[in-house]
Amino acid sequence: MAHEVKGVVATGKGAPVGTTTVVVPDPGPGEALVAVQACGVCHTDLHYREGGIGQDFPYLLGHEAAGVVEAVGPDVTGLEPGDFVIMNWRAVCGQCRACLRGRPWYCFATYNARQKMTLADGTPLSPALGIGAFAEKTLVAAGQCTKVSPAIKPEVAGLLGCGVMAGLGAALNTAGVTRGDSVAVIGCGGVGNAAILGARLAGARTIIAVDVDDRKLEWARAFGATETVNSRSADPVERIQELTEGNGSDVVIEAVGRPETYRQAFYARDLAGTVVLVGVPTPEMQLELPLLDVFGRGGALKSSWYGDCLPSRDFPMLVDLHLQGRLPLEKFVSETIALDAVEEAFAKMQRGEVLRSVVLL
Ligand SMILES: NC(=O)c1ccc[n+]([C@@H]2O[C@H](COP(=O)([O-])OP(=O)(O)OC[C@H]3O[C@@H](n4cnc5c(N)ncnc54)[C@H](O)[C@@H]3O)[C@@H](O)[C@H]2O)c1
Ligand SMILES: [Zn+2]
Ligand SMILES: [Zn+2]
Repeated sequence: MAHEVKGVVATGKGAPVGTTTVVVPDPGPGEALVAVQACGVCHTDLHYREGGIGQDFPYLLGHEAAGVVEAVGPDVTGLEPGDFVIMNWRAVCGQCRACLRGRPWYCFATYNARQKMTLADGTPLSPALGIGAFAEKTLVAAGQCTKVSPAIKPEVAGLLGCGVMAGLGAALNTAGVTRGDSVAVIGCGGVGNAAILGARLAGARTIIAVDVDDRKLEWARAFGATETVNSRSADPVERIQELTEGNGSDVVIEAVGRPETYRQAFYARDLAGTVVLVGVPTPEMQLELPLLDVFGRGGALKSSWYGDCLPSRDFPMLVDLHLQGRLPLEKFVSETIALDAVEEAFAKMQRGEVLRSVVLL
């Protein structure tokens, strides 16, 4: 039996998004039907709407979500109706080259339920990151559902499904921040502030937040930044060097996704330091750096997809830390909104008024 539900669809490049009827089939083999309870508005949804990720319109947006499993396919084990889950866009397959080499965080075999959900007229929908959770119900691969304690609020839990995990993991997993490190984070939206929180959790000594918006810098302090730099009024590379005894930071995390902020990150790190790019660039962006500087400055230039997370390892652990009061994830939730307010939430995100707007269903 197919389910007719309300969902938020991007119909074409740059077109405002709105709610429409989405047809969600029952789960087949390896799949799960999830009643979505909460879904955060991530900048990546806006990238989809802008055509920055692909041209497979129409997109069913939303991918930062938690909900309750309603039904599972015939062969699915370890997941049952009633389970509270965070949806993930990295369902590790266990069989690809990355998995077999013991590097499952590089697994990109995530099953995509693409083209199974449709508009009312039968037009196939591309679910954002294989999830499509700005909808009352969605169909995903069973492996995209990670069971966690139902004691956490859905609007908080869902954030671990994308942006907050990406930021926490950029610091904890990709950069491997450890006690005593100096860390600078450029761009303090949901992702950047999560990187700040991750750096604090790992015991960083100096955490420098850089943004162009004083409001964001104020929030960054609440997440654990020890210093802040508004890069509209000060040169961030010079300030970061001054704040680290002239050395530059051990780790610089770029959470904007632009060539100019990447260049700042590159020059603001200590010799042999690490740059982690977590911001997502658009296809036309180019980076120019003197090759001699790339060579001469040593260190590591990394990028971080989804914080190099393993959902089954990281989500339950982070939920427990939150429930123990050690990971204040609720601070990311600026507002809860209805499904039909996603377009407005994009505008608020662009004006810098929110860290996360979260749709409650
Ligand atoms: N790698 C991943 O797995 C992953 C996951 C989720 C999101 N992202 C990406 O991370 C980026 C940030 O996402 P978000 O949800 O936090 O977005 P956001 O819009 O909430 O935050 C971006 C922040 O960057 C700041 N900023 C903009 N221009 C700047 C500049 N020149 N210098 C310094 N700061 C600047 C803004 O003021 C804002 O605070 C996006 O590109 C998003 O697509 C990546
Ligand atoms: Zn794999
Ligand atoms: Zn996202």
